[in-house]
Amino acid sequence: MKTLFYAICCVGLLWPSGLRAAEDDESMNRFVSSLLKKMTLEEKIGQLSQCAGGFATGPDNTQLSRTTDISRGLLGSMLNVSGAAETRKYQEAAMKSRLKIPLLFGLDVIHGFRTGFPLPLAEAASFDLEAIKMGARCSAREAAAAGLHWTFAPMVDISWDARWGRVMEGAGEDPYYGAKVAAARVRGLQGDDLSADSTILACIKHFVGYGAAVAGKDYNSVDMSWGHFANFYMPPYKAGVEAGAGTVMSAFNDFENRPCTGNEDLLRGLLKEKWGFQGFVVSDWGSVGEMVNHRYAKDQKEAANKAITAGLDMEMVSECYARNLADLVREKKVPEALLDDAVRRILEQKYKLGLFDDPFRYCNEERERTVIGSERSRREARYMAERSVVLLKNEGAVLPLASSVRRVALIGGLSKSQKDMCGSWTCADESKVVTLYEAMQKRGVEVDFHEGYDLESNEIKDLKGTLKAARRADVVVVAMGERAWESGEMTSKGNISIPEQQQRLVTELVKAGKPVIVLMMCGRPVIFNEVRQQAPAILCTWWLGSEAGPAICNVLWGDYNPSGKLPMTFPTHQGQLPLYYQYKSTGRPYASSGWCAKYIDIPSEPAFPFAFGLSYTTFEYSALKVLPGDGGKVHARVRVEVKNTGRYEGEEVVQLYVRDESASITRPVKELKGFEKIALKPGEGKEVVFDITDEQLGFYDNRMNFVVEKGDFTFMVGTNSRDVDAVSYTLL
Ligand code: NOJ
Repeated sequence: MKTLFYAICCVGLLWPSGLRAAEDDESMNRFVSSLLKKMTLEEKIGQLSQCAGGFATGPDNTQLSRTTDISRGLLGSMLNVSGAAETRKYQEAAMKSRLKIPLLFGLDVIHGFRTGFPLPLAEAASFDLEAIKMGARCSAREAAAAGLHWTFAPMVDISWDARWGRVMEGAGEDPYYGAKVAAARVRGLQGDDLSADSTILACIKHFVGYGAAVAGKDYNSVDMSWGHFANFYMPPYKAGVEAGAGTVMSAFNDFENRPCTGNEDLLRGLLKEKWGFQGFVVSDWGSVGEMVNHRYAKDQKEAANKAITAGLDMEMVSECYARNLADLVREKKVPEALLDDAVRRILEQKYKLGLFDDPFRYCNEERERTVIGSERSRREARYMAERSVVLLKNEGAVLPLASSVRRVALIGGLSKSQKDMCGSWTCADESKVVTLYEAMQKRGVEVDFHEGYDLESNEIKDLKGTLKAARRADVVVVAMGERAWESGEMTSKGNISIPEQQQRLVTELVKAGKPVIVLMMCGRPVIFNEVRQQAPAILCTWWLGSEAGPAICNVLWGDYNPSGKLPMTFPTHQGQLPLYYQYKSTGRPYASSGWCAKYIDIPSEPAFPFAFGLSYTTFEYSALKVLPGDGGKVHARVRVEVKNTGRYEGEEVVQLYVRDESASITRPVKELKGFEKIALKPGEGKEVVFDITDEQLGFYDNRMNFVVEKGDFTFMVGTNSRDVDAVSYTLL
């Protein structure tokens, strides 16, 4: 027996992984095909249905009533239930069904599970793909220990409009960077082996264009050409699918005048046929039924028909499939083969998760107790939180604080709010969040806390007492910005300015004469012109999760030198929105005056450009050069030297931008096409080299073909999207 085991192991080791995968696929196909043959039409439709338990993350009530369908084999998945014991309960019911097909449990695990991580937008500020992957892995580890198989993440929607509250859930405005982050998150969540008890299914959402809602209004229509979509919005979806995401969620909005949920060109055409996506597509909450509201279907039956025809496999919450698909098949309006294809895709993911081997493999109370909130999770959350902070201003090198700073006037209720520190779309255990107030106390400094302003009304509170505290302190730290609930789904804003009273408070505090450090807490780019001008030091701390307090303290006192860069442009006026760095030249390119693309009443320049972020140290760029390529895929190389010229060890995100000087379609003034985060000791220099391949030079034409055109290019390298040095290059 032992020998046989040894022989099997050896074969396993020697067998090329491609062959092993093919063998695995074959057994999966055999298994799924034989199961499909045994299923009744009703059981098939059951697999295509998902109901919500526990709580609602959309309109209409939860549908726990549908749980009676589980033991009848008429439900494929549940969302919004979690916990080893809770999921076990429902899985036991599924095991009573005729074919014992396990349920799939999904939840929006967006930035950490019980251990809260920074908002996805904040994590994106790290420009550290390994750290982002680690964060996703931690979410998966904790979620999988709580009985979950599937997260509705990552959201990879590009958005140029900070009015759209869901920007907090994405990676910002840039498609190149967004694609890298999407792939990192998928790899972190799914790992190399979906059946491991620490990995879960990822879901690329929202397919497509959800972040381009007209006027930044959530759920609004989307209007863009395929050519625009291909270059500016598509790359992250494609990268997520290529990274192996097992599922994709259709968006609420329409695209090319058809709701994405019933858009055959998108789901069947682009995703399944062109990209060869093998996983399954889930609708968004109720979005099949909502096609009636779109006036794209006259009733739920027509909605079901359009969705299944388009390639929508699983319906979340609305019951158009459950109520109408059987009739549609019997009436021969929908071929049963379409259902078979959808069911097959869902069963395959269940198979890959190992649920047919052991439906309870993720419901392990013992593992749940040890994994969730572990020291490792907290350490990783803190690491990610530190790397997410962006230093926006540091006049007179107010930061880092000297260790001699012992007395801090801490102003702002946000610094004490466990709830807000978690941010929105959170699963975090609020009671375990270490606030800034608590962290400062643990650090042993004397903290004189004052609310400063009312968190509900924003009215200034006890100005006299607050100013007195400021005068007595060594430094003043002001926590201000949005409340956590102000960003996320359904939180579009017509005004993204920080309330006037909050800003005036900072002006008053500055007058008190002590160094004022502002911590801008927000889930989106916000406008704070007064604070921007008055405060000597500003850190954008977003919402950082369970370890927010210690991470911010580490940054304040210089135990961690901030290295984040803004993943979205910060405007100075609402009227600039949508705002992004990769605008087109236009026929009348932007200039400060004259007949050109500009405003007459507000500036066109942003408050902080895309990928802006300072460090406690300084970096000098020099010797930018184009070098020859390798005669093959690498057309050229761009080389630059970066030196740490300051006093502290620090990290810099070296960025490469490309401009196509003349092309067959209009192209942006510049596009991020490479970046590298490097660590440098004081005085140390490093050479950074970017390979210029088709990826850097090409684009999608209006027919969605990726093309590389010969001609002139400008390569720009620098510390943010504005401050760059340039060199020219010609592709012959
Ligand atoms: C609606 C959101 O748009 C989607 O992202 C989320 O996954 C579902 N609700 C489920 O909560």
